[in-house]
Amino acid sequence: MKDTIAKLINEQINAELYSAYLYLAFADYYEEEGLSGYANYFEIQAAEERDHALIFRKYLHENGEKVHLAAIEQPDVTFNSFLEPLEKALEHEKFVTSLINKIYAAAYDEHDFRTMNFLNWFVDEQLEEEDNADTMVTRMKLFGGDAKALYDLDNECAARVYTTPSPLANE
Ligand code: FEO
Repeated sequence: MKDTIAKLINEQINAELYSAYLYLAFADYYEEEGLSGYANYFEIQAAEERDHALIFRKYLHENGEKVHLAAIEQPDVTFNSFLEPLEKALEHEKFVTSLINKIYAAAYDEHDFRTMNFLNWFVDEQLEEEDNADTMVTRMKLFGGDAKALYDLDNECAARVYTTPSPLANE
């Protein structure tokens, strides 16, 4: 593997762990606000982000590359509304998609077809991540102003369960 690609993947491990940290902060906010369903949703989201980091880490190991764990930035955790973390999540997922695309483009330039193939799972995953985040924003905008509807939304979020992503399923 070219050093440029290994460096980008190491940076992505950090970005995914930051995502986990960010979503854990969102979970804390909702827990403190009494929306424990939303807190559950973001706790699971944080676990998924940790998994994404592990998938990149595993790929580096499989390729005989060194894993470099850098410091994780402190997330900004001041919010003015229930909607705000959801909008930040959508914005963040779009940013993560741009990072995945950047690695993909670098792999393409290097004719690193193995890495392109590896990244295809993340390309699909980012579509799902953005779609889910967009749905969370839309539903809060539509129904979040009504206490009974918000209660129902929170209950729906409470029902989310963790599933191991397929690249880690045989670990
Ligand atoms: Fe690791 Fe939410 O993308």
